[in-house]
Amino acid sequence: MTRLIVLLLIVAVNQTRGSCPEYVFKKISFNSRLVLDYLQKYVDLSVKECAERCSEVPNCSSFSYKPETTNNSECYTYNKRIWSGIASTQYDYLSTYWRLADSCPADYIYNRTYNVCYKKYAEQLMAWGDAMDLCEQDGGYLFIGNTMDKLQLLNDYFMSLPPPLITVAHYIGGNDFQQEGIWEWLDGSKTFNWPRSGAEPSGGTSENCTGVKPKESGIISFFDMNCYLMRPFVCEVPLRP
Ligand SMILES: *[C@@H]1O[C@H](CO)[C@@H](O)[C@H](O)[C@H]1NC(C)=O
Ligand SMILES: *[C@@H]1O[C@H](CO)[C@@H](O)[C@H](O)[C@H]1NC(C)=O
Ligand SMILES: *[C@@H]1O[C@H](CO)[C@@H](O)[C@H](O)[C@H]1NC(C)=O
Ligand SMILES: *[C@@H]1O[C@H](CO)[C@@H](O)[C@H](O)[C@H]1NC(C)=O
Repeated sequence: MTRLIVLLLIVAVNQTRGSCPEYVFKKISFNSRLVLDYLQKYVDLSVKECAERCSEVPNCSSFSYKPETTNNSECYTYNKRIWSGIASTQYDYLSTYWRLADSCPADYIYNRTYNVCYKKYAEQLMAWGDAMDLCEQDGGYLFIGNTMDKLQLLNDYFMSLPPPLITVAHYIGGNDFQQEGIWEWLDGSKTFNWPRSGAEPSGGTSENCTGVKPKESGIISFFDMNCYLMRPFVCEVPLRP
């Protein structure tokens, strides 16, 4: 039985079962903000114990943790994905962790090179928030395109589809809900590849969600979009390393 603590990752080992399942969590860039509708609050636990509490609940997909300061440590578990842009309040020292899946759902595409698991929903056109809910039901969220590898993957995938399916922008997981003009991915990372020549992002407070289209040559480009347009979208399920 192994017990791993990797940079920014916690592997909690459930020792009560013989089969030795491991639960892996990833720390996201969503700090010092508390989301109020938590499942449970615990005090005086280590971060690993907090991860274990979350592991014990099948639906727990995130937890937030405040280390011991002058007060006891605090652990909050959630039966939903906490994402940057969600309604939250300022709360010092708090960090948030995402539960990672063991495997890619059967109807998703798995890219082994980058360990990325994704699915394009082309038939069910939805508003951004409803698309996000559907991705959550799959155990994930709207695709996070914060690395060149993941953008290349998405671009190649789109280019492999029949042309009519790629002429319209698809929702992915970028937004500026938290602060106008400050674009963030759902995990709070801020690496965006806005096209240099275009005017995007251009919509101000009426366009808070990101969409992507592939380019004939080169890499995919982003658009800010009205979040209530009915659009196709791409989901991602985060996998353990
Ligand atoms: C847990 O997830 C299942 C399947 O998605 C759902 O039916 C159930 O209502 C969820 N339970 C809670 C407490 O959220
Ligand atoms: C410690 O807890 C008290 C009472 O709940 C609270 O007023 C205070 O702000 C807390 N201090 C810190 C550093 O979190
Ligand atoms: C993953 O995606 C990249 C970019 O599209 C591609 O070059 C690579 O062959 C893919 N790997 C697998 C195993 O599908
Ligand atoms: C877009 O986000 C800003 C905050 O960045 C908010 O003030 C505005 O109401 C949002 N617009 C819509 C249409 O939800």
